[in-house]
Amino acid sequence: MKNEYDRDDFFHEYAQMPRSRQGLEAAGEWHQLQPLFPSLQGKRVLDLGCGYGWHCRYAAEQGAAQVLGLDLSENMLAQAKKMGVPSTVSYRLCGIETYEYPENTWDVVLSNLALHYIEDLSEVYRHVFRTLTPGGIFLFNIEHPVFTAGVSQDWIYDHDGTPLYWPVDRYFFPGERVTRFLNCDVSKQHHTLTQILMGLLENGFTLEAVEEAQPPASMMNLPGMQDELRRPMMLLVKVRVKK
Ligand SMILES: C[S@@+](CC[C@H](N)C(=O)[O-])C[C@H]1O[C@@H](n2cnc3c(N)ncnc32)[C@H](O)[C@@H]1O
Repeated sequence: MKNEYDRDDFFHEYAQMPRSRQGLEAAGEWHQLQPLFPSLQGKRVLDLGCGYGWHCRYAAEQGAAQVLGLDLSENMLAQAKKMGVPSTVSYRLCGIETYEYPENTWDVVLSNLALHYIEDLSEVYRHVFRTLTPGGIFLFNIEHPVFTAGVSQDWIYDHDGTPLYWPVDRYFFPGERVTRFLNCDVSKQHHTLTQILMGLLENGFTLEAVEEAQPPASMMNLPGMQDELRRPMMLLVKVRVKK
């Protein structure tokens, strides 16, 4: 199974993004995601769709005892390894759908901006529930349903290219959306808010936090950032396992 991140043109464009060059501090969601992390001291942490491994290295810095980053892309994992692998971190080329999710093994499962590539979210929830230890935390950031239900996931522009509004259509038809991202056709999966949140409750999780990402004031001077306050792009969710 291959994904867009192994296409050279897409990988090259992704490498130009501020979050790829400067890491977590340049990611618009980090100021909201970071405070949702539980203490990672001595914890075993699994990162689903780890990409360059920013969150894996962060977990290691926070004292995690063991960190495993999974990703389907050889390019992304090669870059993660180039950036230095702390002794407690390891990476595995593996799909989120195909990892074995050993029972009661991980204290914290993370996933940043990868779950909107997954068709059957409920199955991943079931696996994550099984692999978490009692009281364990699942913390993720997924593209917001208002964003994934966007038509071509883009604004409607006026004649001089100013965004007029964000069109939403076929909201209650979850499934594949082929969109333009970084000048490439990218296949993503739209899930409704009900599927994302109720799926967690139905799989035995207890909801601890839900946030919709807004860029920090310090980024508001960057091109396009003001428009990020016109519709939500990312949904941050923290749940706990009750076993
Ligand atoms: C937007 S990047 C985010 C990377 C990283 N989590 C971060 O926040 O920097 C999405 C990542 O998800 C990975 N990915 C997409 N679908 C996947 C799947 N089915 N299984 C594993 N990884 C996947 C991609 O290869 C890519 O590295």
